Amino acid sequence: MLLPKARGELSQALFDSLRSEPGDTGTLAQVRPTDRDDVQIALWAMYELHYAGFEDVDDELEWHAGGLGLRRSLERDFESELRARQPATTLAEPFAEALFAFIAEHDGPSIAAYVQRKADREQVLELLRHRSIYHLKESDPTAWVVPRLPTAPKAALMELQYDEYGGGDPNRLHAHLFALGLEASGLRADPYAYIDDVPVEILELNNAMSLFGLHRRLRAASLGHLAAFETTSSLPSRRVAQGLSRLDFPPEMIAYYEEHVEADAVHEQLAVRTICGALVEAEPQLIDDVVFGAFTCLDLEDRYAQRMLDGWAS
Ligand SMILES: [Fe+2]
Ligand SMILES: [Fe+2]
Repeated sequence: MLLPKARGELSQALFDSLRSEPGDTGTLAQVRPTDRDDVQIALWAMYELHYAGFEDVDDELEWHAGGLGLRRSLERDFESELRARQPATTLAEPFAEALFAFIAEHDGPSIAAYVQRKADREQVLELLRHRSIYHLKESDPTAWVVPRLPTAPKAALMELQYDEYGGGDPNRLHAHLFALGLEASGLRADPYAYIDDVPVEILELNNAMSLFGLHRRLRAASLGHLAAFETTSSLPSRRVAQGLSRLDFPPEMIAYYEEHVEADAVHEQLAVRTICGALVEAEPQLIDDVVFGAFTCLDLEDRYAQRMLDGWAS
């Protein structure tokens, strides 16, 4: 994979520097970002250096001090923005019921309901292209958190991740199931084939997961995000599967969503009770960050859903 297209002055300067040896990032601090798209694609590319990287960027640059300095300044602003969006919240007791209630009470626009009943084939293809950015590396951002956890939540997270990664069978790995679905639907299944087409909301969704996953300080936010993600997946996955059937999508794509109807009904219990529950029992001071992560997941999904539904309605 090559670097994505720049979306403004900052990402242009960053990508130019990443392509050049040895990655001259010294002047980047002076470049003002053009807009949110510019910031988020720059951040997304910086994060990607920690995943599979880019063919046109030297692997050494993953830990280049200048690049990391820029990443730090972008993600500091991003984290502040995300925190500023969250209304003040105090979870009641007991923790698991309160977290389930917090997630359930969040009311946002539903793309899944639209896909189930109204979306046409082109709209669903657009959605799948957007979702491919995350689903082709499904669960990877959360994997960073494993070594940062105490015993009980670590064991529970590994139980969930083991399932996401196919339980030892590459053909059951969720990211691979999504790739098979894309191919069968006539779409490209190579990672980030559609990165240049995705709206800024998709970049934000992905960047928040990497931000939470890559900072030990934010481990609780990562797991709170996971809890909200899993808890809001089972029923929507059923709706999307029904929409895909209605539009005669191939069985491979439907199978990906059907897999998540049952799997995520189990994962939500694991994520809320056994993972986040065990974490806050061991480290009660992390409750607020669990809620921050959960809220951010719901809020960023709402923003994406609203953008798509508004675009399709006009
Ligand atoms: Fe999954
Ligand atoms: Fe899951």
